[in-house]
Amino acid sequence: MADHELTKKVKGFYNDLVLSCDFVCNVNEPDLTEEERELVKKLHPETMKRYYGSGLAIPSHVEGCKILDVGSGSGSLVFVLSKLVGPKGHVTGVDITPNLTDISRKYTKYHCDLWGLSQPNIEFHCGNAERLKEDFGFKENSFDIIVSNGVLCLCPNKEKVLASIYSTLKEGGEFYLNDVYGSRQAPEEYKDDFKFWDLGLTGSQVWPEFGESMKSAGFTTPYMTMAGPVDVSDEYTAKLQGAKYVCAGHRMFKLPKGAHRGPAKVTYKGNIAGHKDEFKWDVDLTFKTGTPMAVDAELATILAFTRYKDCFDFEDVTATITKRAQNPFTYLEELAAKGKPFPYIYEVK
Ligand SMILES: C[S@@+](CC[C@H](N)C(=O)[O-])C[C@H]1O[C@@H](n2cnc3c(N)ncnc32)[C@H](O)[C@@H]1O
Repeated sequence: MADHELTKKVKGFYNDLVLSCDFVCNVNEPDLTEEERELVKKLHPETMKRYYGSGLAIPSHVEGCKILDVGSGSGSLVFVLSKLVGPKGHVTGVDITPNLTDISRKYTKYHCDLWGLSQPNIEFHCGNAERLKEDFGFKENSFDIIVSNGVLCLCPNKEKVLASIYSTLKEGGEFYLNDVYGSRQAPEEYKDDFKFWDLGLTGSQVWPEFGESMKSAGFTTPYMTMAGPVDVSDEYTAKLQGAKYVCAGHRMFKLPKGAHRGPAKVTYKGNIAGHKDEFKWDVDLTFKTGTPMAVDAELATILAFTRYKDCFDFEDVTATITKRAQNPFTYLEELAAKGKPFPYIYEVK
């Protein structure tokens, strides 16, 4: 099936879902801070009835930032970020589905009033993520942070979407991505099956390919921030030849050209709002305030050349290894083995 036909079907599916409200995802509560959980609880029920994300990707240290949410749906993440960026920041949501864009616009005033903003710091636009510059008029190097939640798995031309995101992200900017990943390729006969495609299964990237596609787009290697399972019925799992699916969150960066520094012992200053005692970087690394931690050259470069540069003290060290590109399937198995299974993010029954 042609790419544009698939995208047209996705748009039709989500346009109808807005009206029927018979599907909703679970928020990855265990990953959120207390403050973030409180903000999510305050979102309008009409927004959360239409929350279809693969885990809420909430970046930290965002006050005053200009953020874009690609595939913003009913606006849940945009509304949370609106509070966190504050009156000096701005959040734009874009989505291809008109009914979702309408519903997010409908609750913009409600959320801005709730956060006590005298001027709205939010806008929503309808169009295609493949054409961020053409459809929305965004310029190159426009956004400090780009977030996206459960969208790439629905896009047939992922290279185009990633190129579009990379180009509109500022140098030194962060791409904070939550999406669905498969443990193996879907069988050919189900590749165009709408149920499987619309719910993020057959269009999802197979796990090891993901890191490569990010690297080809120009980003640093991804650091995994969360993972949660997708609960697929036995009947569908059999059709998909035993494939398993997970939602996973990653942070990655567009480093400024020529940015480089060697490995370093970095000491977190405790100055990120909501993260006074510690700052969780990914599933393997948490910086404790005032405690030096050795990181390799890529991570030291990221911390030194992005919005985190004033959050750490740096001291040169010789080589060290920092984990990244973690495997979400293995991570979930490890959690289960420790008796802490992560609740599923959504069901396909
Ligand atoms: C699974 S939903 C997630 C929505 C939202 N991020 C959330 O957390 O509720 C996927 C969204 O991606 C949008 N979408 C799919 N393909 C798109 C494209 N090519 N450009 C823009 N949005 C797209 C759909 O309209 C839908 O709102």
